[in-house]
Amino acid sequence: VTASTPAATSTEPSVLASQFAGVRGLTETLAEVLSPEDQAIQSMPDVSPTKWHRAHTTWFFETFVLGPHLDGHECHDAAYGYLFNSYYEAVGPRHPRPHRGLLSRPSASEITEYRAAVDRCVLDALARDALSHEALALVELGLHHEQQHQELLLMDIKHVLSCNPLGPAYRDGVAAGSIDGGTREWRSHPGGIVAIGHDGHGFSFDNEGPRHDVLLRPFEVSCDLVTAGEWSDFIADGGYHRAELWLSDGWAAIAENGWEAPSYWRRGDGRWELFTLGGWRPVTAHEPVCHVSYYEADAFARWAGARLPTEAEWEAAAPLEAESGIDLTVLHPTSDASSSFFGQVWQWTSSAYLPYPGFAPAAGAVGEYNGKFMVNQHVLRGGACVTPTGHTRRTYRNFFPPSSRWPFCGVRLARDV
Ligand SMILES: [Fe+2]
Repeated sequence: VTASTPAATSTEPSVLASQFAGVRGLTETLAEVLSPEDQAIQSMPDVSPTKWHRAHTTWFFETFVLGPHLDGHECHDAAYGYLFNSYYEAVGPRHPRPHRGLLSRPSASEITEYRAAVDRCVLDALARDALSHEALALVELGLHHEQQHQELLLMDIKHVLSCNPLGPAYRDGVAAGSIDGGTREWRSHPGGIVAIGHDGHGFSFDNEGPRHDVLLRPFEVSCDLVTAGEWSDFIADGGYHRAELWLSDGWAAIAENGWEAPSYWRRGDGRWELFTLGGWRPVTAHEPVCHVSYYEADAFARWAGARLPTEAEWEAAAPLEAESGIDLTVLHPTSDASSSFFGQVWQWTSSAYLPYPGFAPAAGAVGEYNGKFMVNQHVLRGGACVTPTGHTRRTYRNFFPPSSRWPFCGVRLARDV
């Protein structure tokens, strides 16, 4: 079952309507295998309940498209603005993020009704060509926003299910290990002046521009992602106990959190096991390592005699076309090296998440989408096995705090020449 929902690339109403139906439908496909009890749990402050994701993505369309841009739109439920606003200060107060798991009401079925009601309004407005160009662009933004939440939904439910001693699978039969693997090969880049950032053709988030020149020294980038087998060697070599390998904050983080292996790893019967969206299974040597923090990625690179790429190096080395897609029968990185820049794991870069030269956030509340988070985070590039089809781009800038381990984040090495 490959979910082949393309990203929105047009603001033409009939094209947007079919993309809207596809993206909104995929969210429900992802959620429908979960019980109402599964959908209500918040296992840590970073995690949102599945039903909250379903409601918040709906709130986005109602708040930014229907309310301001559709004459006579009646709000579905006045309380939902408080419950399902994520972080938009300009829109008003909101329920505290760490308490999203306390929302036993509205029920999952009431949220299903909310989604259906907003879907009807948006599709009707598109069919009547009742939306301004500005509103159509916000529908497009809302679809890319919902795709981000589809990935978050899977990241979050993985954490939720991992906390259950029964080790339940999100879906049975997914997340098999990798049999084959290659040897490490390096691809060289001559450096020089390269242009990075989005060129304005097709959709991008505001943080991907403006396109601008950067100066790179010659470098090499690894063709393959770091594997679980290599990570096991790092552990066996005392990697988590050698201060010389670690940044100060990283050394403090492993002491505070007791990290001895990637997140979702545990010692089984004389071997490492890991939790996947298919449940627990043994770690296999050739699968890309996943769920490591920036600190761990940085320490591993130092141990391996390499370093992490900068985001400009990553973009300069990446293939032009980001071909990948979420496959609901896989949902875990595999050793398929041919597509490893995209569609396996997000790859930590050494670059701080900062505005590009000349960056200006959009006017109004949607200007809060990216710009205000540009501090204390690192950029990740590529895309993961849980990133929706069409949501990956060479210029895409994902970002997380350096201690984050619950995203599907892994490691690609670089080195100087
Ligand atoms: Fe959101």
